[in-house]
Amino acid sequence: MSELRPESMARITTPELANAFIEAQIREVRAQVGDRKVLLALSGGVDSSVVAALLIKAIGRQLVCVHVNHGLMRKDESEGVIRLFQDGLDANLIYVDATDRFLDLLAGVADPEKKRKIIGAEFINVFADEARKLEDVDFLAQGTIYPDILESIKQAEGKKAVKSHHNVGGLPEDLKFELVEPLKLLYKDEVRVVGEALGLPHAMVYRQPFPGPGLGVRCLGAITRDRLHALREADAILREEFDNAGLAGKVWQYFVVVPDIKSVGVKDDSRYEGWPAIIRAVNTRDAMTASIEEIPYAVLHKICARITAEVDGINRVLYDLTPKPIGTIEWE
Ligand code: XMP
Repeated sequence: MSELRPESMARITTPELANAFIEAQIREVRAQVGDRKVLLALSGGVDSSVVAALLIKAIGRQLVCVHVNHGLMRKDESEGVIRLFQDGLDANLIYVDATDRFLDLLAGVADPEKKRKIIGAEFINVFADEARKLEDVDFLAQGTIYPDILESIKQAEGKKAVKSHHNVGGLPEDLKFELVEPLKLLYKDEVRVVGEALGLPHAMVYRQPFPGPGLGVRCLGAITRDRLHALREADAILREEFDNAGLAGKVWQYFVVVPDIKSVGVKDDSRYEGWPAIIRAVNTRDAMTASIEEIPYAVLHKICARITAEVDGINRVLYDLTPKPIGTIEWE
């Protein structure tokens, strides 16, 4: 039975409240783990990053972070995790580049749910392989937050999900850890306040959500390395131009999707077949419904000009106007 949030628990809205929470968690974690080691899968998302920063403060290098690059990260994302945690916070960080393992398994797989399952299962395999190499690790830290607890209660009651969003299933039988879940009673907005109080950069703490299967569900159908590369480059341009236009903090989620179709174009007086880059930019409160953000045409023109000029293989840029429902936020 999951622990429920007590009604008396004050909402963490200020740095003072966040600091009190952090101090209490530091005491609790130290009492729980003593001088033993704790393992954490550090994706670089808000929740796992806040857990990492909190545990580094509590137990320093007794925390072993494993960052698995599944080859479906956004441009420079894994490098950013290394810069922030290894270089900046002196984290005990193991970086695993598992790109080939993931992309080889995904080759030829077009079904979105099969892709999700392969990515989720292989993530566990890679993480478990790393965990087995380590000695004296008794604990597993997780960035579970309160909505995850509420969602599992709902699922236990038999309510059906549209997509299988929950990426991290259980670890194999031979790996038995006690859980450390310092954020499990917090809502997302509180996690962000705690993250800032821990000194994590604002842009990191307020970054847009990024699905566990990463670019894997945005490189539609069977993933190929060349189309994935084009998607990653186009997505980086979109994010850069949203930053330049001051839209980054105002739009909930924005990204590029590249379908497995080609159209005819013309470049340097020659026929130029390429994929379209589809821009998706939505606002939502809870991701259950979403509306379309109206991006100024000048920004769209700039993005179109840059993507078609700078990204090999993309010859058109489209703008998705579909709200949720009827379209889900991701295309797969
Ligand atoms: P949809 O596409 O269902 O997305 O409207 C709602 C929110 O969930 C994210 N999403 C996922 N997150 N694993 C995740 O961790 C997934 O497989 C997954 N699929 C969608 C999506 O980015 C949006 O924020």
